[in-house]
Amino acid sequence: MSKSFPSRRSWAEPWKVKVVEPLKMTTHTDRERAISEAGFNTFLLRSEDVYIDLLTDSGTSAMSDWQWAGMMMGDEAYAGSKNFYHLEETIQKYYGYKYIVPTHQGRGAEHILSKILIKSGDIIPGNMYFTTTRLHQELAGGTFADIIIPEAHDPNNEYPFKGNVNLETLEKLIHKAGKEHIPYISLAATVNMAGGQPISMANIRAVRELANKHDIKIILDATRAIENAYFIHEREDGYHDKSIADILKELCSYTDGCTMSGKKDALVNIGGWLALNDFNLYEEARNLVVVYEGLHTYGGMAGRDMEAMARGIIESVQDDHIRARVGQVEYLGQKLITSGIPVVCPIGGHAVYLNAKAFYPHIPQDEFPAQTLACELYMDSGVRAMERGIVSAGRDKKTGKHYYPSLELVRLTIPRRVYTQAHMDVTSESVIAVYNKRDKARGLKMVYEPKYLRFFQARFKQL
Ligand code: F0G
Repeated sequence: MSKSFPSRRSWAEPWKVKVVEPLKMTTHTDRERAISEAGFNTFLLRSEDVYIDLLTDSGTSAMSDWQWAGMMMGDEAYAGSKNFYHLEETIQKYYGYKYIVPTHQGRGAEHILSKILIKSGDIIPGNMYFTTTRLHQELAGGTFADIIIPEAHDPNNEYPFKGNVNLETLEKLIHKAGKEHIPYISLAATVNMAGGQPISMANIRAVRELANKHDIKIILDATRAIENAYFIHEREDGYHDKSIADILKELCSYTDGCTMSGKKDALVNIGGWLALNDFNLYEEARNLVVVYEGLHTYGGMAGRDMEAMARGIIESVQDDHIRARVGQVEYLGQKLITSGIPVVCPIGGHAVYLNAKAFYPHIPQDEFPAQTLACELYMDSGVRAMERGIVSAGRDKKTGKHYYPSLELVRLTIPRRVYTQAHMDVTSESVIAVYNKRDKARGLKMVYEPKYLRFFQARFKQL
């Protein structure tokens, strides 16, 4: 046992429940009707019709009594709210960046960052795409280039840092594209689309060295950086005795700024920020935020939301908190692995990802196996999950064809501090039941496709 987790043997939660929210139970017939009305898209279900909601860990956390107390301390002044200064100071302390621009959520920060850094024809290397991040890069005239290691595309590969950058690919890209066409390297912590897989400190350091050599910036997607810090603590030599807070700060120190969705690690229902170390860039961002989000001392958030996020950050870097958070995800993952369910290994930080290609080898990828699996799971038990496969990947804007990602996954995403171990047991029972009748599943046909981020609003029919 390491120094940072001294006295407890189990990942058991370091909190107890004070307020509860009743769940509605539905029948199989209710759920068949609901999913059909929702166009076989779990994003279009009403949350009232959901039993255990594992759609996302975004904005779904339970706040602590201390955060709720902070909500009462909201300073709702239009300008100069004291909660902004508390938030700014907290981000500077724990993430270590110099200048902070608040935004309503992560994509608000991505939008501003893309506008100030990307010009038409630029290439933005990244360790696997994320949906909103890539779209903002494209809308600004850029093209995303995947530089993640090949292990990340193989759901069965047990490599402990599948979020790592392939340094050779990156270096070749820099030579081919020319450094003047690479505005920054977009580095994600615990890579969402790869299955919540971390990047190692050694790899980040190496990316920094390469970036220095070519004078290129690195911008971190810090959305789940604390979960990444936990994996570094567990898996990387030299970090077992360091605190999560220290690891987080070191990780951020190799980058020039970050975009952040506070709705994940930071334990709040809404909020985000853009952080930058370069004053001139910060000036541009601070100017643009007033156009798209709000004044630079609230950026689309209420004072109370900023206070809740400042307090959430302080709670989120506590070693016991993060151990319990990832521990619960691991618990569900191990249960499924033991039952022979095909999942992405190793288990990620925020979710367990079912491998839909292995679940439904008889359903071709353009009949949406992962979308099908998410629907089957909902019909079986009312557990709501999210597709992370061909629907999420969207279309190549040049050819108009679907992207065919090698990973065709369903994400069982665990909200922070919300569900119990028994809920995890029910979820795993339902996944096993759906697996046992996998031969009967039929694919889907897309009957409505929105132009942007189609997975949110697309509609399907059963084949
Ligand atoms: N980056 C990552 C890695 C994310 O997972 C998300 C959101 C964002 C950026 C955008 O942040 O939602 O606050 O605008 N992910 C959610 C999810 C939607 O379910 O994974 P946002």
